[in-house]
Amino acid sequence: YPDLVFHSPPLTPYVDELAIPPVVTGDLTLAAAEGTHRFHRDLGTARTWGYGGQPYLGPTIEVQAGVPTRIVHQNRLGPHIYAADVDTTLDGASDLDRTSPRTVLHLHGAPSPPGSDGHPMATFLPGRDVVYDFPNRLEATALWYHDHAMGITRLNVCAGLAGMCLVRDQYDTGRPGNPLGLPSGEFEVPLVLQDKMFNADGTLGFRVFKLVAAGTWEGGMTGDTVVVNGVVNPNLTVARGLYRFRLLNAANLRTYHLFFADRMPFWVIGNDGGLLNAPVRTTDLHIAAGERYDLLVDFSALPPGTQCELRNDEAPPAQSTVIGVDVLPRVMRFTVGAAQGVTGGPPASLRGGTDQPAVLPPLPTPQKVRTVTVSQLVAVRWPPAKMTLNNLRFHDTDIDRPRQGAVEQWDIVNTTDDEHPIHLHLVQFRILHRQAFDATSYVLLNPRPALGTRWAPPVGPFTLGRPAQRPAAWEAGWKDTVRAPSKMVTRVLVRFPTADELGFDPDSPFLSPDGETLQGYVWHCHVLDHEDDCMMLPFRVVD
Ligand code: C2O
Ligand code: CU
Repeated sequence: YPDLVFHSPPLTPYVDELAIPPVVTGDLTLAAAEGTHRFHRDLGTARTWGYGGQPYLGPTIEVQAGVPTRIVHQNRLGPHIYAADVDTTLDGASDLDRTSPRTVLHLHGAPSPPGSDGHPMATFLPGRDVVYDFPNRLEATALWYHDHAMGITRLNVCAGLAGMCLVRDQYDTGRPGNPLGLPSGEFEVPLVLQDKMFNADGTLGFRVFKLVAAGTWEGGMTGDTVVVNGVVNPNLTVARGLYRFRLLNAANLRTYHLFFADRMPFWVIGNDGGLLNAPVRTTDLHIAAGERYDLLVDFSALPPGTQCELRNDEAPPAQSTVIGVDVLPRVMRFTVGAAQGVTGGPPASLRGGTDQPAVLPPLPTPQKVRTVTVSQLVAVRWPPAKMTLNNLRFHDTDIDRPRQGAVEQWDIVNTTDDEHPIHLHLVQFRILHRQAFDATSYVLLNPRPALGTRWAPPVGPFTLGRPAQRPAAWEAGWKDTVRAPSKMVTRVLVRFPTADELGFDPDSPFLSPDGETLQGYVWHCHVLDHEDDCMMLPFRVVD
């Protein structure tokens, strides 16, 4: 193939030590601002964005389950790091974003009041402050926070506006002696996974395809260099003991299939919405953009000097592969040091005793089955634009309105050639199964109406004879983001909470910082570039 993609300079892996973001607690002032950051020893410094004084990404925010926190969020951003990449044809984006970029903060995975949920249109300009209230009514888990500004989320998050948020409770205290026996302190490490493009001088790039002009939506930022916590292919020197890794995929588009080079086993103990009932032993896992996994890795039997390489073999979507955007095999490396860590292996159970309810109670049968579609218009230009959910665009008025307290089954019908990680705000759901269907007949027998008209015929007949696949063992818990693979129906069970349970009315209208009346939440593809092209719809949870 001719060289159609940009490339980062080649960089020696594993020469920089993993950086660990500072932890902050309680009520906070959190500014989004520009900084400078060096991603690798041999790169120059880059202009970057970060939260809370961090030059790139944000501090780890720790909250206590049930204890509300108030965040004063300040937009202190200067001209956009990716000014040239703003596509003003996308809904919400304008020329002003190049010089005075909007932002809004979303706490991903948390049930937040509508006015504090980071609604993509509730953005505000540099120089302004906005107050968000987070009730934190959920169990111990790993959430994350990131920008959600309509039309420029992919640029803002790629520039660095993302961070981890750990929810603690009386069982998962994050302290030594916690009732679950989980590693804490230096033995509990957040890992924020991303991929980047670098210019020769070390500054951040964004364009991948040379054929796509700057200022034109590019389809999906697929970097060619893995960074973890803002460090290119880092090394982490570990003690000989058990570690807890809080893994987050904060990439624009990439899904990773992770495993140790020597296939060393590890344990998954939790995912998006909390802990599993017991550790699940595995040698690999898939993590899509927006997903979190809580992992235990036991280095205690390894002699000092052992190097454990964390690798990836997931190819980016077919479209990218064709023109030379590759698998990124190297993620990071762990080097076993001489220090002795916590031994004894993973706990047998993740329940804190008889007073802690089972994390996965059986769910009732759904009162309603909602078929939703994931589609994109046929390519009329490169890259193909017009990603859609339900064949609708963000401002179409036909929006889903589940009832408070209702259990619904959402059948996510992905008619496209790519996997899309689907995320619902406000709720945590459970994955029922995935089932292949004949997408070609589906499209032939259910011709797609004009864009803006809902396209969600039943898929029943097309799934017959194709066995459903159970979710992976580690996907058995509460999820807020689910991989919806190409040409499959992904079925999830969602219970929409009531105002009483939430402590606020999820359907109350609110004023955006600009004084516009808004209502409800959003659900979207967590490929940030797709969400920016309207693969995102509002929904309301009505009384
Ligand atoms: Cu992490 Cu609406 O997203
Ligand atoms: Cu998508």
